[in-house]
Amino acid sequence: MMTAGSKRAIASALAVAGASLTCVAIAAQGGASGPLLAEQAFKNVQAPALKTISVDDFMLTMGIMTSSLGFDCADCHAGAGTDKVDWAADTPRKRTARRMVNMVQAINRDNFGGRQLVTCWTCHRNRDRPVATLTNFEILYGMPILESDDLIPASRPGMPTPDSIVDKYLQALGGVQRLSTMTSWAATGTSMGFGGFGGAGRVEIYVKAPDQRSTIIRFPDAPDRDASVRSFDGRRGWIKTPLSVLGEYQLSGSEFDGARLDAQLSFPGQMKQVLTNLRTLDPVTINGEGCDVVQGDSQRRTFATLFFEKSTGLLVRTIRFGPSPIGRIPTQIDYGDYRDVNGIRMPFRFTLSWLDGRDEVQLNQIQLNVPIAAVKFGRPTALESAR
Ligand code: HEC
Ligand code: HEC
Repeated sequence: MMTAGSKRAIASALAVAGASLTCVAIAAQGGASGPLLAEQAFKNVQAPALKTISVDDFMLTMGIMTSSLGFDCADCHAGAGTDKVDWAADTPRKRTARRMVNMVQAINRDNFGGRQLVTCWTCHRNRDRPVATLTNFEILYGMPILESDDLIPASRPGMPTPDSIVDKYLQALGGVQRLSTMTSWAATGTSMGFGGFGGAGRVEIYVKAPDQRSTIIRFPDAPDRDASVRSFDGRRGWIKTPLSVLGEYQLSGSEFDGARLDAQLSFPGQMKQVLTNLRTLDPVTINGEGCDVVQGDSQRRTFATLFFEKSTGLLVRTIRFGPSPIGRIPTQIDYGDYRDVNGIRMPFRFTLSWLDGRDEVQLNQIQLNVPIAAVKFGRPTALESAR
């Protein structure tokens, strides 16, 4: 059964797909000359807060707008999803959205000392028009309906220490000693995008300690379609998505911090060094299983929340959050199907969900401590031709 939400998500993935031919020049430029700012890459970015953010952060702000209003790209950009789309052209809704970007800046500046407390999500919550009035007396004086806070500054009272939860996890994986012998790994598997949109992909993952990682997804059923690549070499990162607005681009904003954190957490033994100011949050239930929850800070304003199954100690979910001028950008990774690889338990299944897409990966093989050529972590175009 497809929910309204998943239909919308697919619609926006298709909308992005339709943009391919229109922005080829940008893609070439972005790849060759390093990271670009939104106002350099695009023709008609006017909101002061959005002009000077990186291209990766700009695209994520589009994800925030889309998800906050329950829209897809075509609701604001006429023709998105077709090859006739002109992303720079203004529509009435796009003008309203731009005005709202400026309004959000002003509300936070004038009332909250510039702290980002009001965002698109604060009012919209998946609707085009925010709700203004209580219309259901059943909830009057009841529990708040809304989800939990994203950022928690300190441990909740009465909870186990974050260190004890992380230690239990490291023990469940095989112990700190064994984990410290892990210096690289390489995996192969298959991936399903949105409900199989685009057909099954063949996945290769390469990881090298302390902080290099790349994921390459090829589409054998669509020989004309380029591979989709996320790579991070410890200093630079790239994303290449075929059929997307930007094609290939170098990361510099919150996608950069996120890619770095994903690479670092691929070696769980580093968890307590990589995440600082660890704190324990209230426990939650995921898929019927009670979970301990730990949050920690990464570099700049990125932070991550980790969910460990109480019964096994294993990590079942990570949500990392990066900043943007109009709200935080969440990226969720769910893990499952833990299997033993040379005495270390590793997840063979994971689902990566971001504001505008989802990838489900099932691995069939992981090899530990194999040599991996440096080019595998580099710019996607070079990495692919080196296969
Ligand atoms: C709620 C309305 C809204 C939605 C939904 C939306 N956008 Fe936008 N988009 C805007 C606004 C507003 C701007 C211009 C921002 C500014 O002027 O500061 C913009 C600008 C852009 C630009 C820059 C075009 C140029 O050359 O100036 C691109 C590319 C873009 N959007 C892509 C997307 C994609 C892809 C999606 C779907 C994931 C999307 N947008 C969803 C409102 C929206
Ligand atoms: C303080 C509350 C508030 C915040 C924050 C807010 N909005 Fe709105 N927005 C509204 C209200 C209220 C309306 C309905 C206005 C109307 O009906 O005239 C609206 C309408 C809109 C519409 C027109 C919808 C339609 O279908 O016509 C767009 C687009 C929009 N907002 C985008 C955004 C974006 C993007 C952000 C974040 C940058 C944002 N809004 C933040 C209150 C808010």
